[in-house]
Amino acid sequence: MCGIVGYVGSSRVAPVLLEGLRRLEYRGYDSAGVAVHVDGKIEIVRAAGKLDQLEHALEARPMNGSVGIGHTRWATHGRPSEQNAHPLLAGDVAVVHNGIIENHVELKRQLTNSGVEFSSDTDTEIVAHLINRAHTEGVSLMAAVRQALTQVRGAYALAIVSRREPDCIVIAKQSSPLVIGVGDGEMLCASDIPALLPHTRRVIFLDDGEIAQLTATEARIETLDGKPVERAAKTVDWSPVAAEKSGFKHFMLKEIFEQPRAVEDTLRGRVSLETGDVVDSELGLDGEVARQIDRVVFLACGTSYHAALCGRYWVEQLAKVPAHTELASETRYRDPVFTSRDLVIAISQSGETLDTWAAVKTAKEHGAHVLAVCNVLDSAIPRMSHGALYTHAGPEIGVASTKCFTTQLVALLLLAIWLGRRRDTLNSHRAATLLQALVEIPHAMRITLERKDAVHAAARRWMHAEHMLFLGRGLGYPIALEGALKLKEISYAHAEGYAAGEMKHGPIALIDENMPVVVVMPRDAHFEKTLSNVQEVRAREGQVIGIISDGDQEAAAVAQMTLSVPNVADAVLPLVTIVPLQLLAYYIADLKGTDVDQPRNLAKTVTVE
Ligand code: M6R
Repeated sequence: MCGIVGYVGSSRVAPVLLEGLRRLEYRGYDSAGVAVHVDGKIEIVRAAGKLDQLEHALEARPMNGSVGIGHTRWATHGRPSEQNAHPLLAGDVAVVHNGIIENHVELKRQLTNSGVEFSSDTDTEIVAHLINRAHTEGVSLMAAVRQALTQVRGAYALAIVSRREPDCIVIAKQSSPLVIGVGDGEMLCASDIPALLPHTRRVIFLDDGEIAQLTATEARIETLDGKPVERAAKTVDWSPVAAEKSGFKHFMLKEIFEQPRAVEDTLRGRVSLETGDVVDSELGLDGEVARQIDRVVFLACGTSYHAALCGRYWVEQLAKVPAHTELASETRYRDPVFTSRDLVIAISQSGETLDTWAAVKTAKEHGAHVLAVCNVLDSAIPRMSHGALYTHAGPEIGVASTKCFTTQLVALLLLAIWLGRRRDTLNSHRAATLLQALVEIPHAMRITLERKDAVHAAARRWMHAEHMLFLGRGLGYPIALEGALKLKEISYAHAEGYAAGEMKHGPIALIDENMPVVVVMPRDAHFEKTLSNVQEVRAREGQVIGIISDGDQEAAAVAQMTLSVPNVADAVLPLVTIVPLQLLAYYIADLKGTDVDQPRNLAKTVTVE
């Protein structure tokens, strides 16, 4: 969960690395550093704290070289400090690393016994020493890295520079992401595409077990056992400004407001209103699979899991297939049962979440057919799967997921409609009606976003609440969970999401005049029942903030405060009811002054178990 970046070219490298790290800071932000070739030496500047600290350190100590590597850290081994920040230096080599070396205890003991002294508490320094030890006279950096990695077990994306080879960077990958950027007379590498975008949109994804030597004009890729790899560069369609704030105070706010566009992009080319169907070639699945399966299993974590809960609802309702949702972080530690008649849908915006990746691997080993729903092209989970359905949200930088969530919902509803059509459980007329409702969502979202001032007023009213309950039924339940997750992760208020019908089985004990209760209560099939739950809250003097449908007087009459959303079809309600909840979390956090885009203790991609 760190970010790494490297550059070989003719520009001054320190600002290039810093800009790259800014675009990767979402991956980790407790310390950072760079290593640069300068006049036959490797100079290293590191700083504890956020990237601004590194920037100040670099202002105080400008560097002139044009080859270097950089790192932004999310601590795993060793507390966040300058001493534990990367790059780690050992003799002639400096190393940056994203991942975890699993056999670090054993390797450290061996190295210590042979006289090596360590200057940090990191597992990465072990790799630096192993490479340095192998990098003897006549052994190239590439060969030394390869040799060192034979001893290493675990996950890594590595970038290494050697004082003795000033014109190149060597990189290697196992389980953690690494992508090469092919520029014009310059070559880059990074943990994620946004870091490359100011220089190039031509990228080559490194596979697990591969190593590469980057010079200004060439990326020489080989497998760890020495076989050459020929892989053409792909052009990504993300624009450089997509990873900038564009006048918004935070990435999260920008990303909330980008949702109508992100939904349009995710729908584009995938819907045929004339035939009432989803375009086959766009789904990453074969019609035969749709007919053969007898179960759908969703695997995901966090926000993606909430999307999965909606997916289950849609798949059961529209395709009449039994569907289950699994927290991927739990699946891998059970002895789960998957069969060849399972369709596993793995949802992950980053495509890197280790728990989801491992659960996918297990499902695949048991013969299940796996489809990834993902926002990042060619990332680890799509590559582990049989097919991929990409959301087109564009880069999401804010740690709290927003536009990736709503585009996941779009992808899952498309999938459920497609399954229903293939399995003859959904006729073309009903499918066309649903698709039409989806196509109209961006407009409904824009209307909802225009009402931001009402949400801001609610945020001012409730910003000091220490606890908040979120309730919903049916498709409103995952939205209640997601609203609570958004609030807790960025405002640090304690928030719980509950199925409204479960309240009476326990949480109702929490209700008193100090407990704000957000109720997702649009005019859907569950409205009457949800209304009864609201009455139960009111009877105990709970404060109700209702997410209601436009013009619903009955709902407005029972809630102390309401935030209304346009009247859309029941099936697509989550796509609008989530918007005021995202904004509520955002404004409360902003009013409290928390670090909205980089909340404490979190990282955007979770590549640890
Ligand atoms: O990249 P993924 O979708 O697999 O990530 C899963 C969770 O880590 C992620 O959704 C997390 O819960 C977000 N911080 C939520 O905003």
